Amino acid sequence: MLIDFNADTKEFHLHNGKISYVITIFANGAAGQLYCGAPLKTGRSYAHFSLPFAGFSNNDKAPARFEYPVYGMGDYRLPALEAAFTDGSALVEPVYQGHRIYGGKPAIAGLPSVYVENDSEAETLEIDLLDAVSGLHITLFYTILRDYPCLIRHTKLVNAGNKKIIVKNAMSFNLDLPDPEWNLITLTGAWARENRVDDMPLRPGLQGIASSRGISGHQQNPFLIIRRKDAGEFSGEAMGLGLVYSGNFAATAERDPYGMARLRIGINPETFRWELESGASFESPEAMLMWSGNGLNALSQNFHRLYRSRLAHGFWRDRERPVLLNNWEGTYFDFTEQKLLEMAAAAKELGVELFVLDDGWFGKRDNDRSSLGDWFPYKDKLPNGLPSLVKKINDMGLQFGLWIEPEMVSGESRLFKAHPDWVVGAPERNHTLARNQMVLDMGRGEIVDYLFGVLNDILSSAPIAYIKWDMNRCLTEPWSLALPPERQGEFFHRYCLGVYELYARLTKTFPQVLFESCCSGGGRFDAGMLAFAPQGWTSDNTDAVDRLSIQAGASLCYPLCAMGAHVSASPNHQTSRGASINFRAMVAFFGVFGYELDPTQFSEDEKAAVKNQIAFYKTHRRLFQQGTFTRLAAADGGYAAWMVASEDRSEAIVGFYVLRACPNVHPIRLALHGLDPAADYEVSFWEEGGVFEMDRQLNAGHRGGDELMSAGLMLKCEHFPRGGDFRSELILLKKM
Ligand code: DGJ
Repeated sequence: MLIDFNADTKEFHLHNGKISYVITIFANGAAGQLYCGAPLKTGRSYAHFSLPFAGFSNNDKAPARFEYPVYGMGDYRLPALEAAFTDGSALVEPVYQGHRIYGGKPAIAGLPSVYVENDSEAETLEIDLLDAVSGLHITLFYTILRDYPCLIRHTKLVNAGNKKIIVKNAMSFNLDLPDPEWNLITLTGAWARENRVDDMPLRPGLQGIASSRGISGHQQNPFLIIRRKDAGEFSGEAMGLGLVYSGNFAATAERDPYGMARLRIGINPETFRWELESGASFESPEAMLMWSGNGLNALSQNFHRLYRSRLAHGFWRDRERPVLLNNWEGTYFDFTEQKLLEMAAAAKELGVELFVLDDGWFGKRDNDRSSLGDWFPYKDKLPNGLPSLVKKINDMGLQFGLWIEPEMVSGESRLFKAHPDWVVGAPERNHTLARNQMVLDMGRGEIVDYLFGVLNDILSSAPIAYIKWDMNRCLTEPWSLALPPERQGEFFHRYCLGVYELYARLTKTFPQVLFESCCSGGGRFDAGMLAFAPQGWTSDNTDAVDRLSIQAGASLCYPLCAMGAHVSASPNHQTSRGASINFRAMVAFFGVFGYELDPTQFSEDEKAAVKNQIAFYKTHRRLFQQGTFTRLAAADGGYAAWMVASEDRSEAIVGFYVLRACPNVHPIRLALHGLDPAADYEVSFWEEGGVFEMDRQLNAGHRGGDELMSAGLMLKCEHFPRGGDFRSELILLKKM
């Protein structure tokens, strides 16, 4: 049993030896939070964790910590649920009605979610609450997984009354904690500089991040962590909240005047309003809480394992992903079929497995001002059509992949001329252009049907093995022709549901096609997308030095097999920074590896280096894509270090990156993690690193797992650095 119910104390204890979560039902029928954190003994009451509700003498039986707080009941923190009723009131009084406990985990209609392969992997608790005056019925869903320190929640609302109810806010997860001594970590940034780790003490009042862009956004990721002030990468208590959603979200932390902390994550209430007619229902996306008593790496590793194995689906979930060449930074829009074939042939020579044709292959697309929506080959560039190109690529022994941006339309396109009313926004109002394009109203069933038809035709026309699904602008002027005035508040969520519907139909029809989600890089890099596309394009910034921070930030929540990482040209196109071809590869290895440049331009030396890189990656691909990833050192100290180890701890690879050359410094002692302390390892260096001669002499050879994790490796031992800035090593460990 993972969920106990004590009928006397009305307490639910969700436990699995890795986490405990205790809920109570108070005398007034409210569902209250008692405890969330390290595993506690079962079979006893934790009612003494309850804190009285500040200030209300007739409410002293109510908890100060709610499971699903509502507006207007004297709890002046931001609520998880807000509704409005036809009499103009907004008060909800949820009172416990009953509950169910069962094995397994339910799916959520229309939304992606974590799944189990066998009901024994999880238990689910549903708690029913009712606001008797309005008839609003609330079911709180809680799933505890047997093998993770994790709790998954979502909420279902049903209008069981006979008058309309407007839902204004329905958070996925609310967590009221009894003390505020935490730091809040969020991932923020902007296009091409995503996933900066912001880490600040929880201060009095409200703080957090939110998106109103129609996508989760480059600017903030739908995810937050709180950590104890003494917690770091390897020790201390931390909790993460991840949201399985790709649209507007809010993730907030509130430190109240009475020394408590409230965390919330869910759909952004600022841009949401949902009408519930009598009998209708609404389900929130799901969110999961991951707990760690051993610091941030352990927290991330559990997110990685869960997302990799129980959120990602299907054929590609556990398979090694192909090494690809994408032509975008190699040619941009300027290519011919001949040029593509030359690039593909050069790539094949070097060991690439998948050739991806990016933007510019359709309509009359020579720049970003036209043709989105016209998904037929551009005759000037591909005179023989797509199937013929695919065949030629396949005949070389390469798989073929294609870029598409289905949610978009250019003003200059046949599609827009035929259906000007398909775009988002009121016809009589201005339509803001971004990257010169408009957005199709994905909340409309006929548009999703049309796009399914288009993609179905393309994917049926030739053996296309991979789709890069791009999305290059945020939404503006939110308004749908298909919605009546009182339902316009549903626009953003319906857009997201439409995207999911299209993904779901395509992945079902073409289960073996590998989808990579892209949104100008990291603009929709979230758990919702991961359920359909097992990998995403992490950032449009391909600079290896910047990627050390971008990928490390993403790794707080997302696994390496979700992160597209490519070697691109030097100097880099986004930063003009130069770095050696092997430094660039040693960063990109920690992800789904590929190239994004013109391989016909390689010198003989570069060809040899790339051939060697691809062979190396293929040999260690499972380790890089499925291994346990650890952040050993963040890039802000002048160097960075990452490590990936196999689950059985028999092998590992350490990436060590020196950003700035500096003479006469002390060596760095790099303690490793996740090895078998009782085992011996053969330590060797990848021959292509090789600027730290003394490091090699000192560290290579037979070393104990205990020694490697305590004394560690001694790195950067030379007094006078050779090779300048941006030097790196890969250190290989193999159990003897
Ligand atoms: C943005 C993507 O992130 C790039 O990789 C590339 O596909 C361009 N769009 C193409 O327009």
